[in-house]
Amino acid sequence: MDNKHLQDVLAFSAQKGFVWGPSPEIYGGMAGFYTYGPLGKLLKNNIEQAIRTTFMQNMFMEVECPTIMPEQVWKASGHLGNFSDPVVTCSKCHATFRADHVLLAEEEAAEPSDEELLKRIPESKCPSCGGEFENNITRHDLMMKTNIGLDQTGYLRPETATTTYLPFLRYTEFFRTKLPFGVFQIGKAYRNEISPRQYLLRVREFTQAEAQWFVDPDKKNDEFYSSFDDEKLPFWSWNMQKLHKEPEIMTVKEAFDKKLFNSKVYGWTLALAYNVFLNMGVPAEKMRLRQHGPDEKAFYAADAWDVEVQLNSFGWYEMCGIHDRTDYDLTQHAKFSKKELYINIDGKKIVPHVLEIAFGVDRPTFILLDLFYDKKHVTEGKSVFRVPASMSPYQVGIFPLQKKDGLPELARKVMDDLHKEFRVFYDESGSIGKRYLRAAEDGTPYCITVDYDSKDKDTCTIRDRDTEEQKIVKITDLNKILADLISYKVVFKDLK
Ligand code: GLY
Repeated sequence: MDNKHLQDVLAFSAQKGFVWGPSPEIYGGMAGFYTYGPLGKLLKNNIEQAIRTTFMQNMFMEVECPTIMPEQVWKASGHLGNFSDPVVTCSKCHATFRADHVLLAEEEAAEPSDEELLKRIPESKCPSCGGEFENNITRHDLMMKTNIGLDQTGYLRPETATTTYLPFLRYTEFFRTKLPFGVFQIGKAYRNEISPRQYLLRVREFTQAEAQWFVDPDKKNDEFYSSFDDEKLPFWSWNMQKLHKEPEIMTVKEAFDKKLFNSKVYGWTLALAYNVFLNMGVPAEKMRLRQHGPDEKAFYAADAWDVEVQLNSFGWYEMCGIHDRTDYDLTQHAKFSKKELYINIDGKKIVPHVLEIAFGVDRPTFILLDLFYDKKHVTEGKSVFRVPASMSPYQVGIFPLQKKDGLPELARKVMDDLHKEFRVFYDESGSIGKRYLRAAEDGTPYCITVDYDSKDKDTCTIRDRDTEEQKIVKITDLNKILADLISYKVVFKDLK
């Protein structure tokens, strides 16, 4: 873990108005809650939009469900009872800790079993007083409880997924009694973490973007799911991990043929998720697909893989979970609601299987800050946020050279023309040099300066944040030039 990089990113992020907190700062802050400032909110919106675009291009449709659900729902889903973290208590000072955080080293198993944790108790000491731990692992419930009206117990959702499954019968009508179909939700979820840490990576309130693909269990190997067959991805199966092997780069088809996962639709969802990160500008060599071991898998998952990204500050970190939830959720909700949750196609009653792509939005926001904040390249004491143009909070800055002689009016006209296509801001304060530096810190990839030639010759200067090159171009060509520079590129980098 690179603490220095993390501290630099945190200071930069707070100072430039990306992320503030823990919130509310004037009351001392509450761990695990953050505020997105103006630039951070734009960045987060762009991430949400990149995820939304990929889902919609692949025939998922967006819904929005309540964030609070009655107790019964969470009993059915299995979250009440199963969704908890292990806890140890110090026998001397009685402080309690999340067991895996104090009993294991950082690089050890992500979700160890309670038995594994128990074995470590004798060799561990309380970080507060140095005392010994009680020889016992208890569980801390991650569900956030609330009251609904006078007397009903409710819980804030710990995932959007469960709330997405509940209107299943409505979907069957909407999608005209056909399979497969896909639905997704982008919205808040809550987990009562014992000790939230690692900034935006482990928080108590967060935004998820989770897609659910409902498929006939007999059609999980349809040709439809071959679209990514030839794409090469870095697979790190549970077996490879056990044998201490590195991830292997192979095509989705090779991975399926080698039985790394057991359906074509699963490979398709893995590739979809991986592509979203590529489209956000995450370099292919900084990603891997890691399969969960049997003890680590969530209780609803028959198979689970994560897209992991190698951060400068925290090393490899889970960014998106892909789960084969089979018919687990629909069967559970049918049992608890006493409604028949199946689809009748040609006289056959089918309880679909669900493939889930579970993105968070806050973690990818952190990825961009962590990977693209460039402190090393300091010009006049300023750093540069080299975020890809398609993701940057603003894509274009428009500056009049002077605040007089009609230049501001002309610059505003240029802005109005570009505004329809790009995220644009206008700045007339300070020297041009200072404006360029401020824009580079905000992550703005292109700046346009309107000068005296703009009035007579219809030209302006366009400056590139990363190369610092400046070119004189026709104002009438700006739309096309910027569109080519900024276009949302779908990149399948050739992994070797
Ligand atoms: N819905 C899966 C998750 O929250 O991780």
